[in-house]
Amino acid sequence: MAFRRIATLKSADDFAAYLASLGVDLPFDRELVTGADSPFARTYTADGFVIGNRFCILPMEGWDGTTDGRPTDLTIRRWKHFGESGAKLIWGGEAVAVRHDGRANPNQLMSSDATAGDLAKLLETLVIAHREKFGKTDDLLVGLQLTHSGRFARPNDKKRLESKILYHHPILDPKFGIEPDASCLSDAEIDDLIEDFVRAAKRARDAGYAFVDIKHCHGYLGHEFLSAGSREGRYGGSFENRTRFLRDIVAGIRRDVLGLAIGVRLSTFDLLPFKMGVDKVGEPERFEGNYPFAFGCDSRHPLEFDLSETYRFLDLLLELGISLVCTTAGSPYYNPHIQRPALFPPSDGYLPPEDPLVGVARQIHVTGELKKRYPQLCFVGSGYTYLQEWLPNAGQYQLKNGLADFIGIGRLVLVYPEFPADVLAGRQLQTKRLCRTFSDCTTGPRNGLVSGCFPLDPFYKDHPDAIILKAVKENLRT
Ligand SMILES: Cc1cc2nc3c(=O)[nH]c(=O)nc-3n(C[C@H](O)[C@H](O)[C@H](O)COP(=O)(O)O)c2cc1C
Repeated sequence: MAFRRIATLKSADDFAAYLASLGVDLPFDRELVTGADSPFARTYTADGFVIGNRFCILPMEGWDGTTDGRPTDLTIRRWKHFGESGAKLIWGGEAVAVRHDGRANPNQLMSSDATAGDLAKLLETLVIAHREKFGKTDDLLVGLQLTHSGRFARPNDKKRLESKILYHHPILDPKFGIEPDASCLSDAEIDDLIEDFVRAAKRARDAGYAFVDIKHCHGYLGHEFLSAGSREGRYGGSFENRTRFLRDIVAGIRRDVLGLAIGVRLSTFDLLPFKMGVDKVGEPERFEGNYPFAFGCDSRHPLEFDLSETYRFLDLLLELGISLVCTTAGSPYYNPHIQRPALFPPSDGYLPPEDPLVGVARQIHVTGELKKRYPQLCFVGSGYTYLQEWLPNAGQYQLKNGLADFIGIGRLVLVYPEFPADVLAGRQLQTKRLCRTFSDCTTGPRNGLVSGCFPLDPFYKDHPDAIILKAVKENLRT
């Protein structure tokens, strides 16, 4: 399937015509508003805090921490860039495991008494970089994303999954080599893990982070709870049980960690896992019958989303007094085109089964639906990077029409961190630095290397891992 490259859609008419030819409803503003009247430049008050503009840096990990969970120079460089971006909301920085067995890779950051000082310095680096460039930081809100990688944990060896599962999944178990008799986390183990989250939240607060994100997305443990309908015991089955993990963490934080706000990054919907099919194009895994194994999915038509439980989850957030929500979808491990629409797949991926704009529009549409229904919640949208030249136009439309509160920037920040500052200042976009979704930031880590924008960022072009990555990609081609 040939998809038009965004860079070839030179005018608003071209872009609109291409969207129409795809049947994609993705409204955008033809003209950008500049200066103080720009919807991007407005402040937003959340949890009593005035955030200086409507750009948010999404969590972006780099697989580049030390094996004991501390940041390296590469991590520090990335966080400095987050600070220099001009975005006034930093959603979590990157995934930080609350304990060793929850790390997605041996180089993932980890919260512990030993690393607390390093995570504090990381925040300080970001804040100083922001202050040096923009003068003030009292309108900058920075949180830390806390996670356990669950099914996708690889704490000791980049190549070896050491999954911690909540239930046996009919597709994901065989797909990721989980034996039918593998044990599931017990209720008592989950009770302990909840306390690890609370301890990590306390360290985050003591380090100066304004909020923590209790990660519930992308197939990691928090997300897996939400689909654990087949699990017995206190953490599975009913909606109440499946959200006990979140409720107990929140209760623990409220009990022990005064003054810390809480956010949740949520895969608002999920669909069937995909695999490589004919001509390397992605196709859904085969599944007969009802599919109750994905949160926010229509179990009778598992290639379609169903937001009814997502609404219940947002009702719960309201009850818990949580207003910060970062929306995302699916998982990078089993349906990456849903989660991070891209033209070029990573080495373990498949060619896009739909124009990536379809995936972008799906996420934007769902966030809009949620915002309309829950105007009192603060929504950060994700999945915008693929819009490239048209990102500001589409983002402005969503903000202006109250369909999102913040426009999240993920892959794009790796190569062009000044993007938010350029848009806010009304400067011409540096199109040579726009992420074209080559997916090397994922192919690197999938092959044991660090993440980074190898194709476009001169720093990573010259990094020793670039040579290895090139060889890996050449091998794949032959
Ligand atoms: C290299 C890489 C690292 C990422 N790290 C994280 C992470 O640590 N936590 C998280 O919630 N999402 C992570 N994501 C997902 C992004 O935050 C974001 O949802 C996704 O890239 C889609 O947004 P975009 O279109 O702006 O890139 C990562 C994505 C990539 C490509």
